[in-house]
Parts: sequence; C-alpha cells; structure tokens
Amino acid sequence: MKTIVKGMEGVQEAAEIIKNGGLVAFPTETVYGLGGNALDPEASRKIYAAKGRPSDNPLIVHVSCIAEVDPLVSVLPESAEKLMETFWPGPLTIILPKSEIVPYETTGGLETVAIRCPENRVTLSFIKASGLPIAGPSANTSGKPSPTEATHVLHDLNGKIDMILDDGPVGIGVESTIIDMSGEVPTLLRPGAVTVEELSEALGRTVEIDPAIVAGGVNEGIHPKAPGMKYRHYAPNAKMALVTTKFLKKRDYEVSEEERLQADRLISDYINELVKKDEESGLRTGIICCDETKDLYDMSQTGASYVKIIGHRNEPLSMTHELFRVLREFDDDKVDRIYAESYSDRGVGFALMNRMRKAAGMTELLADEK
Ligand code: TXA
Ligand code: MG
Repeated sequence: MKTIVKGMEGVQEAAEIIKNGGLVAFPTETVYGLGGNALDPEASRKIYAAKGRPSDNPLIVHVSCIAEVDPLVSVLPESAEKLMETFWPGPLTIILPKSEIVPYETTGGLETVAIRCPENRVTLSFIKASGLPIAGPSANTSGKPSPTEATHVLHDLNGKIDMILDDGPVGIGVESTIIDMSGEVPTLLRPGAVTVEELSEALGRTVEIDPAIVAGGVNEGIHPKAPGMKYRHYAPNAKMALVTTKFLKKRDYEVSEEERLQADRLISDYINELVKKDEESGLRTGIICCDETKDLYDMSQTGASYVKIIGHRNEPLSMTHELFRVLREFDDDKVDRIYAESYSDRGVGFALMNRMRKAAGMTELLADEK
C-alpha cells in the first residue's frame, strides 16, 4: 500500500485513485469504510476480494449530499427524503429501489441499493472530489470487528488496498442504522446511533423491526433482509459470553438503585467465579465491564488476565465508541475467553447490545439461574 494520509491532505490523491478504479479506506463518524467507485463492477469485486467477503452481501453507497441520490434510485419517496433532510449527514443508511446505473455487483444482486451520507469533512470532500458515489463496506476483514481507527484498517488490509485516509479515531464506533424504505412499511434492518424512536418520530409512523435483529440473524427459519446480518460478525478470536440476570432482563434494566447494586453483585460474583475456574485450567481470560462496576472486578483478587472498562452504562454512546477497539485489543492480548456484562437495549443501547450479542455468538449467561 502506498500511503496513509492524515486529514484533508490526502483528499485529491484519494479521489484520483477512485477515478482510476482503485480502493481507498476512508473515515466516517461510525467506522472506517473501504471505498471504491460504486458504479464500477470491477471496483466492487476488488472490495469483496480485499475483505474476503461473500459477494452476495451488498455494499453501502456513500454520497456527499442529497442531490447525489437521485441518479442512484428508481423511486425517491417523500418519506425517504424527509429522513435524509433530518439525519444527513449522519449515521443513517436508507434502502431504496436501485436505478439502472448501479451494478448488481455493488448491490449483491439485489434490486435495491443502500445509500448513506456520512458526517466527516475529509470524506465528504473526498466523495465530492471524486465526482462518484463511493461503495463502502466497513474496512475490516470479513467477520472481524469494524475498524474504528486507521491502524485497525492497516492491520486487516495492509497490502490489499491503495490508500488510507486517516482522520483519527471515529466518534460513534458502531455502524450506521439501516432502514428499508423500499417497501410499504419502513423497516429497521440494523440498529445504530439513529434510534427507532427518532426514525418513527421523523416519519410520523411506527417503524417495524426486522425479526432477524432480535434473533441475532443466525436462527433457523428467520431470513434477515440485510444479507450482512446472517454472517458471524464482530467476532474476537476468544470465545465470548454475556452475563446478566433474569430479573434485570425481565425489568428491561429499569430497576431501583438497590436492585441494581444487588444485580451487579450477582453478575460480578458469577463472572469472577468463571474467570477463576478458567485461569486455574490454564486459560487466559478478559472481562468487559463499565465505569460503574469496575471496582467489582479486581484483577489481583479474580486473577483475570485483563479487565477492560468500555464506558458509562447510562451513556451507551460512550460504550459504542470503545467496543470494537476493546474487542481488537483482546485479540492482541491473546485471551481465550471474554466475559462481558450485558446492558440495557434502550435507545442507542439497542445498537450496542446488538453488536455485543453477535460478538458473543448470542451466548448469554444468567447469574441468578446458574
Ligand atoms: O456505518 C456504516 O454503515 C459503515 C460505514 C463505512 O459507512 N458501513 C458499513 O457497511 O457498515 P457494511 O458493508 O459493513 O454493512 C452494510 C450492511 C450489510 O449488513 C448489508 O447486508 C446491508 O448493509 N445492505 C447493504 N445493501 C443492502 C440492501 N440493498 N438491502 C438490504 N441490506 C443491505
Ligand atoms: Mg461490516
């Protein structure tokens, strides 16, 4: 690979690479993307090859403003335009019926196209300068956590792409919300920082939630509408399990201070017990907890190899920001098992927990039912 360029300096060179059919990794507010000319089937093929990604898993097409959407779609409903005006540039991807100029190589053979306008000044300039829509999946090796820093991209794709535009660590840290606006009923296909509540409010109607999101996308009999949801995702090398209590789940994490303290105690006791057993049998363990509970996981007491704090549990965005970085760190630490606390699904918590469940292969242990 030729270059990693910081900030705006690389924009012109990146645009030239795109125009010549090459690949450029770019920053966004969610995660880093791996960009190529969305109208060029050959560029899309190169993206799939670099990521090692199945080619039936469609790519998101990035634009720099709403005006650039028109040529890419065959229908543009007012409701979809309303969402663009409300949330763009920002972490929302909108699925619409594709126009003829978008090749099936980019849409994984589908008649619809996913479009998003990211909120990052370097990338918006880069898209404008290239004069093309940019196909861009997350810039990770397929199956790994999405990259939230340029070094993560380098780790996964060094030698496979032409350039990385580096704008430092991303803000949000999990991928955009995806809403399908191609049918009668607006449907959420992937939770992100734009919440279902916000979408419903903007549309003035309820947004359906694709059952595959809640099921994790890998259950038999449920076929996710976003093909990407069916693959194993965000997976650290270690086996990971989430730990919560039946009581917390039943109450949707709305509990009194005292009940919360009790649950924290149960969960941490259980995690510490699991860690102790694992470490005694020669396995290296890691714990994911939050700022509020960190004192319950004293490494000198539990013998865990690593305890990592991912943020404040009442501010899910502080945790989405850290999650993928922490999962990648555990790979570097070479741990065999990761035990993570579960958090509330409310608001942006839905996006956080969706990624954590997938990283854990849907394994959740109940501390009050062991
Ligand atoms: O935040 C993001 O969205 C990042 C940044 C780089 O923009 N991109 C990203 O792309 O996460 P990717 O390829 O990792 O995830 C795209 C998801 C996949 O699950 C894919 O199946 C779904 O979007 N998707 C794309 N086009 C679709 C379509 N036409 N219909 C249904 N799902 C679609
Ligand atoms: Mg991805």
